[in-house]
This record gives sequence, C-alpha cells and structure tokens, in this order.
Amino acid sequence: MSFQALLTRETENGYQTALEERELTDLGEEGVLVRVHWSSLNYKDALSATGNKGVTRQFPHTPGIDAVGVVEETTDGPFSVGDTVICTGYDLGMNTDGGYSQYIRVPAEWLVPLPEGLAPRDAMVLGTAGLTAALCVESLLDTGLNPDQGPVLVTGATGGVGSITVAILSKLGFSVTAVSGKSESHPWLKSLGASEVISRDSFLENAGKPMLKEQWAGAVDCAGGDMLTTALKSLKYGGCAACCGLAASPKLEMTVLPFILRGVNLLGVDSVELPCEIKQQMWQLLADEWMPVDLPLLEADEVELQGVNAWVDKILQGGVQGRVVVRLP
Ligand SMILES: NC(=O)c1ccc[n+]([C@@H]2O[C@H](COP(=O)([O-])OP(=O)(O)OC[C@H]3O[C@@H](n4cnc5c(N)ncnc54)[C@H](OP(=O)(O)O)[C@@H]3O)[C@@H](O)[C@H]2O)c1
Repeated sequence: MSFQALLTRETENGYQTALEERELTDLGEEGVLVRVHWSSLNYKDALSATGNKGVTRQFPHTPGIDAVGVVEETTDGPFSVGDTVICTGYDLGMNTDGGYSQYIRVPAEWLVPLPEGLAPRDAMVLGTAGLTAALCVESLLDTGLNPDQGPVLVTGATGGVGSITVAILSKLGFSVTAVSGKSESHPWLKSLGASEVISRDSFLENAGKPMLKEQWAGAVDCAGGDMLTTALKSLKYGGCAACCGLAASPKLEMTVLPFILRGVNLLGVDSVELPCEIKQQMWQLLADEWMPVDLPLLEADEVELQGVNAWVDKILQGGVQGRVVVRLP
C-alpha cells in the first residue's frame, strides 16, 4: 500500500525535501503502525530537513519529531487498533522516518495515549515544544520556586518552547520577563501573559561581565551561549535556570562565580529520551491545568506537507513566532 510523505534527499544541489509516494514496507515490519493526522514544526525538524548530520545521519529520510494519530496495526504492547496516540522524540524524525508522513511505525514504548479532553490537533500545537516547556516549568517548581520569589526570565520567548513557557508560567501566577529578538512581537508576548518584555540587545548589554545585578527568581533558557550565561549571572541568590536549547549557541563560557557566590543552579532539561511515563504525566498537565489560556494565539500557521519547506529556513533563522502545525492528508 502506498502513502504520501515528505522525503529529504541528498542531491547535487544540496539537501532537498519534497512530497513523495512511499510503500508501507519502507517502514519495516516491527512495532506499532500509526496513521498520522497531525504533526508540527520544531527547530530540530528544520535541522533534519537541511541535512544536519548531528540530527539525521542517513538520507533519504522523512523528518518530523512529532506525530499524533490512530493505531492501525499492533502486535504487542498496551495499545489497540483505533487508539489515538502521541509520539514525540526518541528516534522519531531523527533516524526513524518521522511525522511528515501519513504513516509512522514505532516501538510501543515511544507512544503516549492522547489524554482525555485534548484534541489531536491541539496536541500538535503544543508538540515537543509544549512538552519541553512543561518539563522546564516542572524542573523549576521541583526546586520549590513560587510566584512570591520574584520574576522568572524566559529567553527565545517567541519560539515554540519559549512562547509556551511564557503561557504556562503566567497561568501559574508567575510574573514573567520575556527576552526576544523580535521587537514587533513584544505586544504578542504580553498577550500571552508576559509582564515585561526586554529586547535581546539590551538583555545582552553587559554579557561580558562575570556577575550581574540579581534580578530573576528563576529562568528558562532556549538559546544557550551568552543568553544562558547572562541569565545565570543575573539570577537571584539560590535561583535556578532550566536550560533546554541552543538556538544561539551550544557553548557555555563563564566563570563559576554565580554558582559559588550566589548558590545558583543550572538544570538540564531533555524531552527526547526521558521515560514515557514522565512524558505521559506532562501531557496530562498540558491537557488540564497547564493548558495555555489562549492556545490559538500560539499558532503561527497550519500547513500541509507541501507547505513545510517555506517554514524551514524561517525557523533556522529564529524567525518564527509561535508554532507551525502540519496537517496530513
Ligand atoms: N532539550 C530538549 O529536549 C529540547 C526540546 C525542544 C527544543 N529544544 C531546543 O530548544 C531550542 C528552541 O526550540 P524551538 O523549537 O522553540 O525553536 P524556535 O521556535 O526556533 O525558537 C527559538 C527562539 O530562540 C530565539 N533565538 C534564535 N536565534 C537566536 C540567537 N542567535 N540568539 C538568541 N536567541 C535566539 C528566537 O526567539 P526570539 O526572537 O524571541 O528571541 C527563536 O524564535 C532549540 O535550540 C531546540 O533545539 C530542546
């Protein structure tokens, strides 16, 4: 049986992604066959679609680290034909053909049942970005952080992870300071719940100093590099920063001073390999208490498979505000 999928191929003119017909046998025979209805665009998908070997080693390949759909065939595990499931992370869209496809075939351990009350499309408005945002917030709450301790900083705030983090933190009663490189998006960030928005340039003004004025009770960083070090240097005494991204840089260059003089902490967040039970708990929170107040506000666009390419360069340049949802035919 044939189906439609995006396929990224290595060509003489570089990596090119186009719609192709594939056969179910291309996906192998092991695991659960899922008919995908929705996917989404993440920064990592753009890396895979442009041949980044750190994400995808072998081409041709179908990107898409997120998928939601219905089980069509299963030989073992807890799922039955007809169940609606979410798949994010693990190897999906990296070296296992991903969600920009009418079908995926994955191990049952990669699947989470769609929580009751969460529409499949809404699950992909959130996607890996939402899951990661939830994990960042959870890691800060686990340290005992509460809204009375002061503002929480979010960097890369208009991106997928950043914008959903702003929405969740403000729903939980935190005062959120968003940092963004997009001056035109400041009103949008306020409508998501940010109390204050700072431009990236002014945030980085004193990035070279070893310590900065204590300002934030906590921070969520999606950018890495100077953005993360500046956040760490300006945390209040005992404050924590959750670090999940490298949109600016994978480097971390600073002194140990904020750690040993102010007792600040750096919390690493990974949403890819963590156990499925934890993903399930996070999806439940996202479906209930942590669901952003205005989910449609987070949407940048809805595209079909043919429309994904137009957003790939944009997200690599840090130019997307919110989330792009992908509709499968
Ligand atoms: N650890 C994990 O499990 C995990 C999971 C998901 C994502 N991630 C990582 O988290 C990051 C964000 O992912 P995403 O899907 O939200 O990507 P995204 O939608 O592209 O958001 C990234 C945002 O970072 C900011 N940014 C871009 N370039 C920058 C630069 N040079 N300096 C400072 N800020 C810059 C931009 O926001 P502003 O214009 O508002 O500043 C951009 O919108 C990525 O690095 C991604 O790989 C990690």
